[in-house]
Amino acid sequence: MRFDTPALPNPIDRLQVVGQPVDRIDGPAKTTGTARYAYEQHDAVPGQAYGYIVGAAIAKGRIESIDVARAQAASGVLAVVTSRNAGKLDKGAFYVAKALAGPEVDHYHQAVAIVVAESFEQARAASHLVDVRYVAGAGAFDLAATRASAVAPAREPDTAVGDFTAAFAAAPVKVEGDYTMPDQAHAMMEPHATVAAWQGDKLTLWTAIQLVNWGTRDLAKTLGIPKQNIRIVSPYIGGGFGGKGSVMADAVLAAVAARVAKRPVKVALQRALMFNNTTHRPATLQRVRIGATTDGKITAISHETLSGNLPGGMYEKAANQTRLLYAGANRMTKTRLAVLDLPEGNAMRAPGEASGMMALEVAMDELAEKLGIDPVVLRTLNDTQVDPERAGRPFSQRQLIECMRVGAARFGWSARNPKPAQVRDGAWWVGIGMAAALRGSPVTKSGARVRLDSQGVVTVETDMTDIGTGSYTIIAQTAAEMMGVALDQVKVRLGDSRFPESAGSGGQWGAASSTAGVYAACVKLREAVAQRLGVDAASVVFGDGHVSDGGRRIRLGQAALAGELVVDDAIEFGDLDKRFAQQTFGAHFVEVRIHAATGEIRVARMMAVCAAGRILNPKTARSQIIGGMTMGVGAALMEELQIDKRRGFFVNHDLASYEVPVHADVPHQEVVFLDEVDPTISPLQAKGVGELGISGVGAAVSNAVYNAVGVRVRDYPVTLDKIIGRMPSIAA
Ligand code: MOS
Repeated sequence: MRFDTPALPNPIDRLQVVGQPVDRIDGPAKTTGTARYAYEQHDAVPGQAYGYIVGAAIAKGRIESIDVARAQAASGVLAVVTSRNAGKLDKGAFYVAKALAGPEVDHYHQAVAIVVAESFEQARAASHLVDVRYVAGAGAFDLAATRASAVAPAREPDTAVGDFTAAFAAAPVKVEGDYTMPDQAHAMMEPHATVAAWQGDKLTLWTAIQLVNWGTRDLAKTLGIPKQNIRIVSPYIGGGFGGKGSVMADAVLAAVAARVAKRPVKVALQRALMFNNTTHRPATLQRVRIGATTDGKITAISHETLSGNLPGGMYEKAANQTRLLYAGANRMTKTRLAVLDLPEGNAMRAPGEASGMMALEVAMDELAEKLGIDPVVLRTLNDTQVDPERAGRPFSQRQLIECMRVGAARFGWSARNPKPAQVRDGAWWVGIGMAAALRGSPVTKSGARVRLDSQGVVTVETDMTDIGTGSYTIIAQTAAEMMGVALDQVKVRLGDSRFPESAGSGGQWGAASSTAGVYAACVKLREAVAQRLGVDAASVVFGDGHVSDGGRRIRLGQAALAGELVVDDAIEFGDLDKRFAQQTFGAHFVEVRIHAATGEIRVARMMAVCAAGRILNPKTARSQIIGGMTMGVGAALMEELQIDKRRGFFVNHDLASYEVPVHADVPHQEVVFLDEVDPTISPLQAKGVGELGISGVGAAVSNAVYNAVGVRVRDYPVTLDKIIGRMPSIAA
């Protein structure tokens, strides 16, 4: 099915199942421990041996020698694989880091060997006996020092409308600030893990991956085998956040080790390896400049950003939201990328916006204060209903003002004292801050197969994944609505490359795209049902497990009495994304409390108001938003990969030293969804929300900190050491 004109009324609009806050259908399996995650696929294939990865002890240089003799001779060891016996390994199309070093080492903790043994303990013990000698080379580890060598990425040319320089110079009121965002880790609960098994030249992997079809593509290229020979199975994933986009070292090395050891091999990255071996959100150095008239109209706005990566790696798109969020006749953005020899930077929840809005939305707060205009009012004054770079391209939906209006009313924004450091509650300074949120809502081709059996049970099969997001549930809701059956009459099977290719989980496109693919397949199934029953597909009604046609009412399963009905289809998207700017919007409100003596910062309450098209399931969507808000608190106040700039690695590479918020750090969160449908997105008129929830949060926290104590920190995270010396006096 092609979707290239805005949605017309269709069976989803009945909203009997779609749009309902139903519990996750995969919840019981997860809470009873019967959902099998990658490392728990004990019964999938017999004879599984254990692989243990040895990470490089240098960041840059080469391996002079590897002596594996002692490891090889250790108890229970079946094989030791290094670049010398791994066979030829290429790279995939997505990540640039090689899964296995040798002789060159490209980054710290890049795998140099994998030890395979009968037990995990034997593999781990033997890994310490692998004797690697390195020749360390010089590397670049300091982003700020790379500025002169940074270039504009080919895919991200500078943007310019009007004359920013002249307009900024002439602006009566202006703000200008440098903001720094550190490297951050996904730190998902489930480690990267894979069980790999060969049968002849056919390879099966049970692995944790967000995009199954990227995995088969990238692993085929890496191993130099046809992708048809690879099956990936990934039914449950314990968090990804962009860190499990495609196959990584666990998958590649499990596959190679299984080939060498002639045994199925299971590998989980040990926690302390994950931070340097896999990917992270790359640090950015950002500069934002905004010029305005004295009555608060933006006349000039610019955003420049620099990030670093391994050669060929991706850049962080931290300037991009500034092209769309506010009006302003004169504007420009610049994105720069430098070569760094740190582990690979890649997508992490709302890549681009999550970092960029932490600068832009603080700059807006600074501008509001300078103008003496309320921050909500300033943003409202500079709203735009068209793409500010292309006036002929309207937003498909843009309820930013309504998000801010509703949020301000419900949060009690009017009680905020705009003057900082005025409100105390005992020993605590109290501050309130807000920020706008914008995040793209892309959609991409997605396929599904649907089956109908004689009992009236509908089964959906697609290689879509559920990374904890609720895919199982919203897909079941879509099929139930389309086929007119109860939710418990739908079975959903996900995460298997034998199923039709889907959009996968990434870029906030998963929910909108995959449900549209299921819609397309269900339209076809309805036609097949009508044909079998000899009724008119256009006029019959599917409901209550029956098909009704005027006076006739036929049980749905009747259509499959002569044999199961099976159809495949995919949704493909036209150019509506070119004609319309398609984005999700939100407004975040945060109250913080800062201890007057110690500078300890506590978030007291948070609220997000979101406009993101039709909300397919308010319960799973809320969970996505509060997860994003929690991650935003981490970004604002805690998260920072500390770089050893001499040796080139992330020092705090475990969950004890890489701090993320825990329950006690996030006491009260509220989420409001505005009523919205966006007919330009898909037949379901729904957009993703998984990344909207984090966009803007960090800025709202930072703005609340400023309101509490009058200290502006532009260097994230906002930790107490950065405010303690500048806190207001509490004497007298
Ligand atoms: Mo996402 S950070 O594109 O999984």
